[in-house]
Amino acid sequence: MNVLSDAFVSSPVLDVQGLSKVFTGSSEQTPVLSGLNFQAWPGEFICITGQSGCGKSTLLKLLAGFIPPTAGRILFKGKSITGPGPDRCVVFQEDALFPWLTVAENIGFGLKGKALSAAEKQSRVNRFLDLVGLTEFKDYLPGEISGGMKQRVALARILVLSPEVLLMDEPFAALDARTREQMQNLLLSLWEQLKQTIIFVTHDVREAVTLSDRTMVMGRITGEAIITPIHLVPIPLERPRIQSSREFMELAAQINSPNK
Ligand SMILES: Nc1ncnc2c1ncn2[C@@H]1O[C@H](COP(=O)(O)OP(=O)(O)O)[C@@H](O)[C@H]1O
Ligand SMILES: [Mg+2]
Repeated sequence: MNVLSDAFVSSPVLDVQGLSKVFTGSSEQTPVLSGLNFQAWPGEFICITGQSGCGKSTLLKLLAGFIPPTAGRILFKGKSITGPGPDRCVVFQEDALFPWLTVAENIGFGLKGKALSAAEKQSRVNRFLDLVGLTEFKDYLPGEISGGMKQRVALARILVLSPEVLLMDEPFAALDARTREQMQNLLLSLWEQLKQTIIFVTHDVREAVTLSDRTMVMGRITGEAIITPIHLVPIPLERPRIQSSREFMELAAQINSPNK
């Protein structure tokens, strides 16, 4: 899929225009984002990286509509975002599964309020149990499965809602290296089948180059700087990507020092 060339015949899913965020405390103001502009295209996989405290989670919360911008706006398919919506769902690192519900019940939980027949809900839950490889574990409780499996449940219970945009804040950061790699492969395969737009925050540059179509490198606002410095680096590598390849390492190096 060549997302960037498709971009010319479609309109952006997310259009971030002059976005600024200042947190106002009792005695101080913390400017976090300033004058940020970018677009995400249908089906695009964007990773956001940058040092701790540069505002990655803040940007994700703004995209989710959990917090309002101080200035600027974010358009979702041409309409200004004014709050959370079912079209933009968030997956966090800290999975908050309901401990008293089974894997299948956790995945089906968000469908409760939807105007679907019981049979349709059940078939959706079964489809996503299968997609994340947990059919055999459907009757287990979260306390009885591994961390990687919990994260698969967390992913499935969001994907079952068919959001157009998936917002992910360091979702695999707490997993061991092997489980993390399995989750990356699973996410890529789900994305190839379901074709959502994904905005994925990670501080791991190799994860960003493994996953994304483009990686956004955010800089920290310092002193009087008024524009949040960002670089959007296209990752034009075929998937699956080989971390030891020269092209991979060159892109990772470029992201690590974007000014060179
Ligand atoms: N609710 C808040 N009130 C005040 N400051 C905040 C709030 N949330 C985040 N910040 C500050 O904004 C900056 C960016 O935070 P964050 O978006 O969490 O960064 P990142 O996710 O890149 O590590 C930090 O300096 C943080 O202390
Ligand atoms: Mg963060």
